[in-house]
Amino acid sequence: MVNSVLTIEQITAEPMRSVNERIERALHSDVALISQMGAYIIGAGGKRLRPKLVLISALANGYRGHDHINVAAIVEFIHTATLLHDDVVDSSTLRRGQDTANAVWGNEAAVLVGDFLYSRSFEMMVEVGQMRVMEILSSATNTIAAGEVMQLLNIGEADVTTERYMQVITAKTAKLFEAATQLGAVLAGSNPPVEAAMARYGMHLGIAFQLIDDVLDYTADTDEFGKNAGDDLAEGKPTLPVILAMQLSDDSTCEQLRSALIASAQGSSPAAEKLADIVETVKASGAIEKTIDVARDHVGQAVSALHDVPDGPFRDALIEVVESSLKRKF
Ligand code: IPE
Ligand code: IPE
Ligand code: MG
Ligand code: MG
Repeated sequence: MVNSVLTIEQITAEPMRSVNERIERALHSDVALISQMGAYIIGAGGKRLRPKLVLISALANGYRGHDHINVAAIVEFIHTATLLHDDVVDSSTLRRGQDTANAVWGNEAAVLVGDFLYSRSFEMMVEVGQMRVMEILSSATNTIAAGEVMQLLNIGEADVTTERYMQVITAKTAKLFEAATQLGAVLAGSNPPVEAAMARYGMHLGIAFQLIDDVLDYTADTDEFGKNAGDDLAEGKPTLPVILAMQLSDDSTCEQLRSALIASAQGSSPAAEKLADIVETVKASGAIEKTIDVARDHVGQAVSALHDVPDGPFRDALIEVVESSLKRKF
């Protein structure tokens, strides 16, 4: 069967060229290190999913102006700033298939350039000049920061509940997806129920996206993933795969997982070989499939949220994005 649904990549190809130009212009600074680091991380690409979501959400709701280009660039800036900071906090060495900025230039520079990107994104918001846009983006940024702090408090916490984990990922990841899709509707002047539905769509997509990211941390091939698989466990980060694995395992296996999490958080991460064994234990427990089931449930909720969004190729592409989030490999 011929698949006639246009993908988000196809639909947004042209406006994304303008978004990328806008991003490049906004990266400019007289301080060479800023331009250099900005070009390094932005130049590595990334999927640019969040800006594409802004664009398609605006188009799906009949937007005809130009502000969606700026808003899309702002959202990618905020995302990139969170990644610069996140890689410092997580001591990550690989991102988008290359050394992280902190690995190349050190933590200090990565934190400060992250601050530069955040503050530049606020300057760009002022240029857009719409209070609703400011409101949504500023509160999303604040929620992401709170989510990252909440997650920091969970490191090494073997008793973290599923609810607590869901709260963290909803804040640190889903909030920006929610803002992206809501903003498309806001720009288009959609009525409040449609705006709320677009926000709900983005939130469920973001939750599914992070759940799959946490699965990939256990199952992915590092080269394809572009990030080091296995880092979550090595760092003592209790994500849903390990939380469920502890629930599904017998007492002694559960104890093994608990002590690995606690030891990793204390900086005495088990040796690579032992960590690889623990990854296998998580996989053998059935926790990966169960985590994917939870993601699938959120995919269903995202699709349901699109009920009142006008029918057509943009809505079809929004459905395709969320469904393919379950199949992604990077
Ligand atoms: C990475 O996001 C951070 C998470 C929320 C898991 P992406 O997977 O969208 O990263 P890039 O932008 O494509 O590199
Ligand atoms: C995503 O969290 C970072 C933010 C949303 C701020 P992770 O730490 O799980 O993402 P990766 O794995 O480093 O991309
Ligand atoms: Mg990280
Ligand atoms: Mg991760």
